[in-house]
Amino acid sequence: MNPITQTKPLDVPSAIAQRRAIKTFKSDAIAPELLKQLVELTVAAPSSYNLQDWRIILVQDEAQKAALSAAAWNQQQIVQAPVTFVFAADAAGAKKDLTPIYNQGLQTGAWTESTVNYFKTAIPQYQAGLGEKTREYAIKDAMIAATHLVLAAQSLGLSTCFMNGWIEDKVKEVIGAANDPDLAIAVLVPVGYAAEPRLNPGRLPLASNVFVDRIGNPYEGNA
Ligand SMILES: Cc1cc2nc3c(=O)[nH]c(=O)nc-3n(C[C@H](O)[C@H](O)[C@H](O)COP(=O)(O)O)c2cc1C
Repeated sequence: MNPITQTKPLDVPSAIAQRRAIKTFKSDAIAPELLKQLVELTVAAPSSYNLQDWRIILVQDEAQKAALSAAAWNQQQIVQAPVTFVFAADAAGAKKDLTPIYNQGLQTGAWTESTVNYFKTAIPQYQAGLGEKTREYAIKDAMIAATHLVLAAQSLGLSTCFMNGWIEDKVKEVIGAANDPDLAIAVLVPVGYAAEPRLNPGRLPLASNVFVDRIGNPYEGNA
């Protein structure tokens, strides 16, 4: 377990400002209760219709980490960090039994029977309209959850690296999903204690990629 335990979580703006893509991790383990807190903050993310169609695999076993790293062009963060979250997305998530989701909404009082009845019709219709984009929409949900993880980890004294550098079929093989055509890999996120600091590579001036009302009308920060 890491001897450095951060007692006070960073606030959200500080976590955003201090987060960096960390390329080298210590092998120090993450305390089980801290990992559980991270997982809970990750799945607190919102999703379209509250489908929660992410499938999150915590890769911790040494052999599994080595196989996952091999599927990711041998990127060493995965081998070094105590855990890598694989964010997969189930493009067929909306076709699964949604009763537990409906029941929970009813139990909390967030949804009424009429909301649930509306969802029972609206969700299949919406998904049918998406066609092949169901994959893209499931990936959006998974990416939002991954962003929750990254900021929660930073707030709680851990570091992360979003990772796109991997071969999807190989990652699916490692997590045991090779035969599931509906499962897409969204992103990999190793989590652990940084072995070295990283500098912020900076961001473009706002006016180059933030616009007001229409693309081409640059946001200058005073509108
Ligand atoms: C979706 C995504 C995929 C990325 N994939 C990788 C990766 O495979 N390997 C890696 O070392 N860094 C990866 N990065 C890290 C980026 O290079 C890094 O976030 C960017 O240079 C900005 O630096 P910062 O995160 O420290 O602000 C990825 C970042 C994002 C958001």
